[in-house]
Amino acid sequence: MDKPLILATNLHEYSRIKKISVNSCSFVAKGFIISYMDKRIFIVGCGPGAKDLITMRSNRAIEEADVIIGSRRLIADFVRKRDIRTLVLENNYQKVFEDVDRLKGDKRVVFLVSGDPLFHSLGERVIERFGRESCEVIPGVSSFQYAFCQIKESWKDYRVFSIHGDKDVDIGKIFKENDRFILLLDPGHNLKFIKRQIGAIPKCKYRFYVASNLSMLTEKISNISFADFDNFPEESLSLLIVRREDE
Ligand SMILES: C[S@@+](CC[C@H](N)C(=O)[O-])C[C@H]1O[C@@H](n2cnc3c(N)ncnc32)[C@H](O)[C@@H]1O
Repeated sequence: MDKPLILATNLHEYSRIKKISVNSCSFVAKGFIISYMDKRIFIVGCGPGAKDLITMRSNRAIEEADVIIGSRRLIADFVRKRDIRTLVLENNYQKVFEDVDRLKGDKRVVFLVSGDPLFHSLGERVIERFGRESCEVIPGVSSFQYAFCQIKESWKDYRVFSIHGDKDVDIGKIFKENDRFILLLDPGHNLKFIKRQIGAIPKCKYRFYVASNLSMLTEKISNISFADFDNFPEESLSLLIVRREDE
């Protein structure tokens, strides 16, 4: 079949040109449009980890990719085609971006990212580097959304901070200025690090949940005390939910 002449870069633009309602597009039509969209770089949210928490649209972008870039874990979990070219992201962002500069002219490049692509994610850097016009972003379920579904609480009053890789973060200030917040952790910026930074908190005033390996077989969500911060067994994929209880 010949490629249709579609100048639109997304479904809404396409429907404007064709004067059809987005809702009236069948799933097949939407998929068809996505297939022939102008974009060469896709930033795909894979969700928190479970294979059934990625969207159908993300899966489709992965299936139609020529080159897939992501962490070893995301490539192993979400790429089914064995003969596709993959680039593993480690500490080689610069080199990978230079490769994408060369590839994007005639290859469809997919970046796999965990959770949602624009929530404390590489997605932002990819857009900054290659420009909005070149990128299509497919949302994903974020780790924190999933965590709140598990504890059955709304996240509307919470602020989110990432201390993942952030050496200069002032945790004391975050505690002082916020009653409800989430901290995205990493193996170096973990519970012990937080306790070292703030020293002590007023007794019994907070509820803490540590949520690790969310949506995976090893998922664990624990309600812990501040004293537990010293010896709680941590996983590298973890976040902390903090709620002040004394107002
Ligand atoms: C670079 S950020 C990416 C966040 C991601 N874009 C999202 O929407 O969840 C990585 C941090 O997110 C959190 N995270 C991501 N996936 C997780 C999971 N399955 N379980 C617990 N925390 C997770 C951890 O704090 C991890 O260090």
